[in-house]
Amino acid sequence: MQNIMVTGGAGFIGSNFVRYMLNRYPDYRILVYDKLTYAGNLDNLLDVQDNARYAFVRGDICDAATVDEALREHAIDTIVNFAAATHVDRSLMEPDEFLKTDVTGTYVLLEAARTHGIERYHQISTDEVYGQILEGRSSEDYKLHTRSPYSASKAAGDLMCIAYFTSFGVPVTITRGSNNVGPYQYPEKVVPLFATNAIDDKPLPIYGDGRQMRDYQYVLDHCEGIDVVLHRGELGEVYNVGTGTEMHNIDMAHLILDTLGKPRSLIQPVQDRPGHDRRYALDVRKLEALGWESRFSCADAIERTALWYAENQGWWRKIKSGQRYQEYYRQQYQGREVVAKG
Ligand code: NAD
Ligand code: TYD
Repeated sequence: MQNIMVTGGAGFIGSNFVRYMLNRYPDYRILVYDKLTYAGNLDNLLDVQDNARYAFVRGDICDAATVDEALREHAIDTIVNFAAATHVDRSLMEPDEFLKTDVTGTYVLLEAARTHGIERYHQISTDEVYGQILEGRSSEDYKLHTRSPYSASKAAGDLMCIAYFTSFGVPVTITRGSNNVGPYQYPEKVVPLFATNAIDDKPLPIYGDGRQMRDYQYVLDHCEGIDVVLHRGELGEVYNVGTGTEMHNIDMAHLILDTLGKPRSLIQPVQDRPGHDRRYALDVRKLEALGWESRFSCADAIERTALWYAENQGWWRKIKSGQRYQEYYRQQYQGREVVAKG
C-alpha cells in the first residue's frame, strides 16, 4: 500500500483521515478525489495542500472515465471511499442524490477496483445501516434494517461491496462508524450546528423529545479504526467503529451549552424528523480484537468539538454566511418550532 485514493477526501471525515495518514505514514502518497459538493471544502485541507505526497483531482465517483484516469495517472493501489451524500434530513428532501452517489458511485468504484486490480478497496459505512437498535447492540452480523433513504443507500453500497468480494474477488473491507464529531464537520450535522448556533446565542433546534441516543465518537478514533482495518483487517469482513456507549441528544445539547458558557434556555424543541431512528448502539469488540481502542468518550469528543468551533470561527462563518447554507436552514427549520402547551 503506497498510493491511496481517498474519495470524498475534502469532506469532514475524509479530510481528517488524509491529514492523519500523511502524518502517520511518511511513505504513503494520497490522492483526494472529490466532486466538491456543498459539503466538500478545500479549506479543510489547507494545511496539507503543499505536501509533496498530496494531490487533488476534482471528479464525481459516478463518472467512470474520470475515476479510471485518476487511478492510472496516480498509479493507485488502494481506494478508501468516503464520498457520499451524508445528511439524513437532506435524504428526506432529495433522495435522488443519495442513490446516485452512495449506490451507483460505489458500484463505479468497485468496477474500477476490479479492472485495475486494486490491492484494497475500503468502504466507509455507517451504524445507520442496522436501523434503530432499541435494546442491546448491533454486531457486524446484525440484520440490515434501514429506515431512511440515506441509510438504505449506504446499506445498498455495503451489499455491493460484499457482492464484488464474493463474485469477483475484489479485496474489500468495510467499516461501519457511529456519529463522528470533530474539526471541519459541515454545520448541518447536529453537534457543529448546535455549537455554532450557541456561540451566536441562537436557538438549538432539538428534534422531538431529545431522548434519542447516538454514539458520538471523536473523528480521530474513527480514522485510527479505519487505519487498523486497512492494515490488519480480514478481506470481505465488516468492522464496527464507535465508542460502544451512547448519549441522549438532550444531554449532548446541555454539554455543548455548558462547555461554551451559554444558557440552557437556548434549547428550542422543534417538530421531530420523520422516521427518526431512536437509538444506535454498536458492539465494537471485533475491531478491539485487532488491537484498536476508542480513546475519547462521547463527552470528551463533544467538548473538544465545541471548543474547536469556538476557536475556528472563520472556517464555519464562511459557510454559514453563504446563501446556499441560509436557504437550506430556512427550508429545514423555519416554522418548525414546537410551543410548550399551557
Ligand atoms: P461529508 O458530507 O462531510 O463529505 C462528503 C464528501 O464527499 C464531500 O467532500 C463531497 O464533496 C464528496 N462527494 C459527495 N458526492 C460525491 C461524488 N458523487 N463524487 C465525489 N465526491 C463526492 O461526509 P462525512 O461526514 O465526512 O462522511 C464521510 C463518509 O463517512 C460517508 O461515506 C458517510 O456515509 C460516512 N459516515 C459518516 C459519519 C458521520 O457521522 N459524519 C458516520 C459514519 C459514517
Ligand atoms: P445528525 O447529526 O443529523 O446525525 P444522524 O441523524 O445521522 O444520527 O443528528 C444526530 C441526532 O441529532 C439525531 O438524533 C437527530 C438529532 N438532531 C436534532 O435534534 N436537531 C437537529 O437540528 C439535527 C440536525 C439533528
